Amino acid sequence: MIPALLEKIFRPVLAKYSDTPDKFLGMISRCSDPKFGDYQANFAMAMGKALGKKPREVAEMIKADALENPLSEALFESIEIAGPGFLNLKISSDWMLKTLTAAAKDERLGVAKTETPKTIIVDFSSPNVAKPMHVGHIRSTIIGDSISRVLTFLGHKVIRDNHLGDWGTQFGMIFYGWKHYLDEEKFAENPIMELLRLYRIAREEMDADEEVADECRREVERLHAGDPENRALWAKIMPYCLKEIDHAYERLDIQFDETLGESFYNDRLPAVVKMLREKGLASDSEGAVCVFFPGRSTPMIVQKKDGAYLYATTDIATFQYRMETFKPDAIYYVVDHRQGEHFVNFFEVTRMLGYEGVDLRHVKFGTILGEDGKPFKTRSGDTVGLDGLLDEAVERARTAIRQNEASTIPEEDFEETAQKIGIGALKYADLSQNRESDYVFSYDKMLALNGNTATYMQYAYARVRSIFSRSGLDAEAICETATLQFTHPAERALGMELLRFDEALESVARDNRPNFLTAYLYELASKYSSFFENCPVLRAESEELRNSRLVLCALTARTIQKGLEMLGIQTVEKM
Ligand code: ARG
Repeated sequence: MIPALLEKIFRPVLAKYSDTPDKFLGMISRCSDPKFGDYQANFAMAMGKALGKKPREVAEMIKADALENPLSEALFESIEIAGPGFLNLKISSDWMLKTLTAAAKDERLGVAKTETPKTIIVDFSSPNVAKPMHVGHIRSTIIGDSISRVLTFLGHKVIRDNHLGDWGTQFGMIFYGWKHYLDEEKFAENPIMELLRLYRIAREEMDADEEVADECRREVERLHAGDPENRALWAKIMPYCLKEIDHAYERLDIQFDETLGESFYNDRLPAVVKMLREKGLASDSEGAVCVFFPGRSTPMIVQKKDGAYLYATTDIATFQYRMETFKPDAIYYVVDHRQGEHFVNFFEVTRMLGYEGVDLRHVKFGTILGEDGKPFKTRSGDTVGLDGLLDEAVERARTAIRQNEASTIPEEDFEETAQKIGIGALKYADLSQNRESDYVFSYDKMLALNGNTATYMQYAYARVRSIFSRSGLDAEAICETATLQFTHPAERALGMELLRFDEALESVARDNRPNFLTAYLYELASKYSSFFENCPVLRAESEELRNSRLVLCALTARTIQKGLEMLGIQTVEKM
């Protein structure tokens, strides 16, 4: 909304004085103190140097040019030049009132769809199957989901692809275990637990005995080569693996458009190596086939000495398939930061193959740590299962609700509410982090009623909604007819924050960082609090003023709801 208008106004002006208007456009930012304005621009200083003029003089020129644009008349209350040449931009309150009135009637809250829709593949979750889902799977799953939601809402065509690890070494181990130690009864009872047991036996024996390690390797080879027994075993096991992950996705409310695992690309791998050789990109090195990069010492191996293909080979095959099938403008890989080097190399190969136009990003994330600062494990040192993690979050939510004497949740909604609060807390705790850092997992912190948590945001939402339910007033009807007004600075400050929702979403889309959205929501809730403290709503002096404030309340509730939805988190009407 506002940034798009500022760009429309300032781009032609800046282009008049510079060949690189974009560089200068990036210098428009929010004003931290509304006394000075709502936005500020400090391009006059940088531009002054280039033009050999005093910054203040440049600022005057830019201001005069900007004011000639008819858009400026509507958008700005004033443009002031301060200090050495800052431009302080104050947005017109009339424009704000008009825009907020329209947003209140709009299903999309005034957030426009992008003018340049792209086809974007988001490769996320992508667990290695045949083992229970665990804490290590959560970040890719919920970060990828949130990014996909935001991009879709902004009008992009998003293809959510779950690139399952369904063809890897774990199957060799499971096959080995299956052939030597299968307990039919246990498998019938709980297939995934039995597979895990077999996997663990193989792991142990492998570590102690080189023979077993070789045998496991041969089992995968046989699978890849099409050995009927292993193919049949694979086909027998896979449905249970898919059921296990689907169960997790259902609990987390995650959907995919495609679930094309590594197995899907098996038949394409020989052609990949052949093509890389033909283009002169791959060559033999100590029996293996490698891609060498100019200026770098470590190559990327695409086929091992024994003929086996690798993770990288599959990623190249997947990339080609995606380019042919979906013709994407961008592919985002939401994967652990420890795979950084793999993606640097793999992206480099796609460029060497001549795919310049596609925007490839490794959306990396750090590790979830326990309170001891080490990777999160159970007390006995095992990986934390995803199911157990979700159970515990929901159980704690139940306890928290029961302990809250002021809770107004009707008994029949209790369980559903606990689910939404528990799972929401978990997601928000993760999404509110800078994804590239590690963070310490804490049930207590994530369910806190105060602070930057889902619980706080859900509570803020329920509180605003209760104004309507208590008074019996119809939010929608009031939004259709009310005339908005600002009578107190807190109303305007809240209005300004509401108008920045699209800015927050755009920034998430630009940098693939959902924490920009959580930070926005937290700020919005704080602006709402100060509005609510300073501006009586139901007891406002007049009906007009009451209705105007009710529109701000309704918009706040809907913005929080939509914002949480973009994080994959649901709201509740009562808490
Ligand atoms: N299955 C891999 C893992 O668990 C992640 C796959 C990510 N996607 C990709 N195209 N490489 O580490």
